[in-house]
Amino acid sequence: MPKVSIILTSYNKHEYVGESIKSILDQTYEDLELFIMDDNSNEETLNNIKPFLNDHRVTFFKSETQTIDERVAKTRYAVLINEALEKIEGEYIAYATDDNVFHMEKVEKMVNYLDNNPNVQVVYSASQTDYINEKGEITNSIVRPAKAIQWLAPCVIDHCSIMHRKTILPVIQKTFNSIWDENPQFYKIGDARFFWKINHFWPFYPINEILDFNTITPKSIHAQIQNAQPNEFARKLPPQRMCKELRDSLRAMKRLERK
Ligand code: TYD
Ligand code: MG
Repeated sequence: MPKVSIILTSYNKHEYVGESIKSILDQTYEDLELFIMDDNSNEETLNNIKPFLNDHRVTFFKSETQTIDERVAKTRYAVLINEALEKIEGEYIAYATDDNVFHMEKVEKMVNYLDNNPNVQVVYSASQTDYINEKGEITNSIVRPAKAIQWLAPCVIDHCSIMHRKTILPVIQKTFNSIWDENPQFYKIGDARFFWKINHFWPFYPINEILDFNTITPKSIHAQIQNAQPNEFARKLPPQRMCKELRDSLRAMKRLERK
């Protein structure tokens, strides 16, 4: 059984997905399995995934999602992640997306941290996000640091920057009746919603090194939601719930605990 399971979600990012997958299979830490969960991408994207499917550590799944209405009915990446979580075998779990590149020592460093700290359930690292315009030029770059033991993880830690023990999942499932939230009101901040659930019980422990590199392209959900002329997918999304709601609710919970 592999020690680490990594779940990568993919949809139509042919320019980036190959590099994302490669960065995982090239990790210095090799005892891992990679679930590539594709949401029925175009042929160009699938052709760039195919060369990696011979690696015995890869399991590939492709959904049958067709219409935009199906894509907005549920937060698709949450659905795909929940499906993968039923199949994975690893003791430690990490998440990847088709536009994110792992530092080659990321998994090794996170595994060491969890191995050496048996009371820590979740670890996170710093990350860098580059914003790319239509011409492929970087227009902005931000670093999310990893300095504090974080009880307020929503919207300050990225989807691809964490690793957690598998043993937290039954607690989350029992409390919230789901693991990742499929409600499309959380499409924009699905990772924050999952971290909000985790923060009811556990903080995130920091490794203050940039261990993943993220890209927001004009096609990204974030970019489309903010676009003056959003595409059909973004137009059909329900109103999106906000970071503030999640963070305020965690703050209120902490205040009650202190009383
Ligand atoms: P992405 O476009 O990268 O949005 P952002 O980075 O702004 O949040 O999409 C996030 C993830 O969602 C990505 O891994 C692909 C996945 N996804 C699907 O699985 N199905 C879909 O229909 C869409 C739109 C995205
Ligand atoms: Mg993205």
